[in-house]
Amino acid sequence: MDKLIVEGGVPLSGAVKVSGAKNAALPLMAASILADGPLTLTNVPRLGDLRTMGRLLKHMGGMATLYPEEGGSFREEAILDMSGLTNPEAPHEVVKTMRASALVLGPLLARHGRARVSLPGGCAIGVRPIDLHLKALSAMGAEFDLAGGDIVAKAPRDGLVGADIRFDSVTVTGTENVMMASVLAKGKTVIRNAAREPEVADTARALVAMGAKISGIESDELEIEGVDSLKPTSYEVMPDRIEAGTLLSAVAMAGGRATLIGARLNDLAVVLGKFTEAGVFLRAQNGDLTVEAHRGLLSAVNVTTGPYPGFPTDMQAQFLAMMSTAKGASIITETIFENRFMHVAELRRLGANVTLEGRTAVVKGVERLSGAPMTASDLRASASLLLAAMSAKGVSEISRVYHLDRGYDRLDDKLNSLGAKIKRVRDN
Ligand code: UD1
Repeated sequence: MDKLIVEGGVPLSGAVKVSGAKNAALPLMAASILADGPLTLTNVPRLGDLRTMGRLLKHMGGMATLYPEEGGSFREEAILDMSGLTNPEAPHEVVKTMRASALVLGPLLARHGRARVSLPGGCAIGVRPIDLHLKALSAMGAEFDLAGGDIVAKAPRDGLVGADIRFDSVTVTGTENVMMASVLAKGKTVIRNAAREPEVADTARALVAMGAKISGIESDELEIEGVDSLKPTSYEVMPDRIEAGTLLSAVAMAGGRATLIGARLNDLAVVLGKFTEAGVFLRAQNGDLTVEAHRGLLSAVNVTTGPYPGFPTDMQAQFLAMMSTAKGASIITETIFENRFMHVAELRRLGANVTLEGRTAVVKGVERLSGAPMTASDLRASASLLLAAMSAKGVSEISRVYHLDRGYDRLDDKLNSLGAKIKRVRDN
């Protein structure tokens, strides 16, 4: 297991490229199950979660080549051919480490008529059930049984049938799962109260490139006309808006000036608004985003997370860390997950003044954090600890950074390229 040793107080400068989006690449990899041949994804970030999804696809009997080597370097690609799938199963060992494994359920039912997927258990940031996925797939004719902790799913003999589905609440992977199931179903499916996250739209566009018929992309009502088959294609994964936001927070906290290459600004509108409100200077030019901030000059801003286009829950921990050194008190409210403040206890170890009351955190900015040992608990929490450590006085140690590596493409390397002082060491 690796740990990070961070020397704080170093301002950042330079330019760094935003990687492909984890939350788009994951459903896109699952979508390969639907195609009659290879799906080639480009701009694929190097992440633990994608390697896990690759292992899962191989476990099912498919071919999954991630990051092919060429002349001593790796291409950011995934070549996925699931036409030889023999074993439509997602076992517990995989699902327990990555809840997004449930994304294979819809594609498996649509393409193979059956699936066995381990029921996702509790998760560090809340219970995270998949009841909404199952209810929607049932409306399309799927039947579910529980056996040995697994969901055993079966489609009708003639395949899934289009249905009019309304999600009781917004679910990102739920929308993706049902959308992927419906592209090969008989007739028309309407998904109401669909998630509008840019990653859902990216998945829809890839499916359209494969020959699916989907309208209403980017809206909360998707209409899908089933087709008989989907063809092999190649698709470029969208840039990661959460990685971009995390890098922005790093510069905002540490101070300095840096350019994010290839950040997609439209996807970040609400987040950028909050940064500007906090006193961070932003300038967009030719698809790049330059950020400039002076350490110690941030002001407190309130944030409430919500489904897109609201403030993303995946940016809450990083923003909270940023507010811990802002002038004044900010109120951060988490409405998506019930247990997503685990970073708070660790940030307090650096001197952050945060009080929790249910789903709300009151953050009273302090002048300076000071370095301390910390333990990462989940993906975004790990990022927030790293940002805090970078702005703190003195040295911090962060253990269990595998959480960070699950979802960030070499974040420590990227930050070091901007001048940060982060050392990765083996922690035995
Ligand atoms: C996705 C993202 C994750 C992000 C989250 C919210 C991926 C791979 N992951 O997760 O990074 O934090 O969206 O933007 O894209 N819920 C139910 N029943 C269900 C499904 C969801 O009650 O069947 C609840 C969840 O517990 C949660 C809320 O709905 O409280 C939203 O969850 P959802 O949008 O489904 O999150 P994920 O798709 O798991």
